[in-house]
Amino acid sequence: MPIRGDDAPLRGSYKGEYMYLSKEEEKNLSGEEGEPVAEAIDYMVKFGEAFDAERLLDIVYVHYPAEMAIYEGSVEDLMEYAEKRPKVSVPTTSSTLCMDLDQWKAMGVPEELAIKQMEVVRPHKEMGVLGTYTCTPYLLGFIPPKDSYIASVESSAVIYYNSMLGAWTNRGGILTKYSAVCGKYPEMGYMLKENRKGTHLFRIEVEKENLQTFLDYNLLGIHVGSIVGSEVPVLDGIRTQKQEHIIGMGATLATSGSVSLYHIPGITAEANTIEDAFHGDCPKETFMVDVNDLNEARNQVSTIDGGKVDFVLLGCPHYNLGQLRGVALMLQGKKIAKGVKLWVCTNRMTKLAAEWQGYAQMIEAAGGRVVCDSCPVESHMRSSTCKSYGLPTPYIEVMATESGKMARYVKDLIGCETLLIDRKNCIKAALKGRWGE
Ligand code: F3S
Repeated sequence: MPIRGDDAPLRGSYKGEYMYLSKEEEKNLSGEEGEPVAEAIDYMVKFGEAFDAERLLDIVYVHYPAEMAIYEGSVEDLMEYAEKRPKVSVPTTSSTLCMDLDQWKAMGVPEELAIKQMEVVRPHKEMGVLGTYTCTPYLLGFIPPKDSYIASVESSAVIYYNSMLGAWTNRGGILTKYSAVCGKYPEMGYMLKENRKGTHLFRIEVEKENLQTFLDYNLLGIHVGSIVGSEVPVLDGIRTQKQEHIIGMGATLATSGSVSLYHIPGITAEANTIEDAFHGDCPKETFMVDVNDLNEARNQVSTIDGGKVDFVLLGCPHYNLGQLRGVALMLQGKKIAKGVKLWVCTNRMTKLAAEWQGYAQMIEAAGGRVVCDSCPVESHMRSSTCKSYGLPTPYIEVMATESGKMARYVKDLIGCETLLIDRKNCIKAALKGRWGE
């Protein structure tokens, strides 16, 4: 148990008083476990002070911030930090980079950018950060126990951990790296039970036939997220058993709003009933959701109805092996239209499995590419990066995708038009180079 000993360091404030620190935390803060641990815990105490946290929590897992070379100073900061020889103290996976570490040349990444991005691999290894480079680490088996505390970056991962697995996390930022080193996080935000209570009730009255694809669940997430912002929606009336639906919906909830936690009674980790979800209280507001809301959500994000397509993106969030298989079967014996790029994004471990099964080869035989470590909006295709490296802007003209999150970001970050259509139609668009005519 944390203590508030008389000899506790005069650090932290809890509502004007000192933050509780355990004896072990005091020792670590004073440098007994070395300078990197002392620095890391010092950051956590200061962070906690700023948010009136009462104590630090032991965390069991970290999803580590992306250190992408497209962000100025990001790689340099990591290199400088790594010189202090920090080591992670809990299992730590890494989020996406700005390119596929193996295929960057064939994908048109400028060499200067690629060389800089590759520099992160060595310090990550030395620190003990696992080179997963993905937004879906839970698909690789990083599944903390229910009610455990973790520290995660990447909004689509945060919402999955909080909601589906019931592992408690805030939306981590750059300070998450210090959590990895000291194994601590302040008790604040979604680490407090009272903040995990549902706020708004959504009664889903969409007919079964209109709520069955990955895209349909993405549209639902766009709609609900745009209403609740950063609060905690409770969705009643969803019966999906498919993990990909939940992943897609969570990603758009976190994008159109900034939702980090939601409940679906009977499906998510912390609510068997609507009463559970609201901790016995009443919702602030109740909304009915029908198919018109989903159509409206698509119209909000899709910038065109059809026509020429030069890029098709699947795998946002990063696909699992089953999804790769589905795409491989759809492409079997077919050829993608000339001038069209099809990317299917995943992590490198799942790609290895897809190669072992022959699915990656099937996608590539059709002219597609299984991309690891990254995705278009995190890549050299960003307009700002194109301008810095003398690449054409926009890098692509029209992207077709089934992902509401990707569609929402590409217009601003890449500057292309967006066509939000389901997976089958994405494949059709890739084969024809057009859609809707
Ligand atoms: Fe992942 Fe990129 Fe989408 S990081 S969630 S594939 S925007």
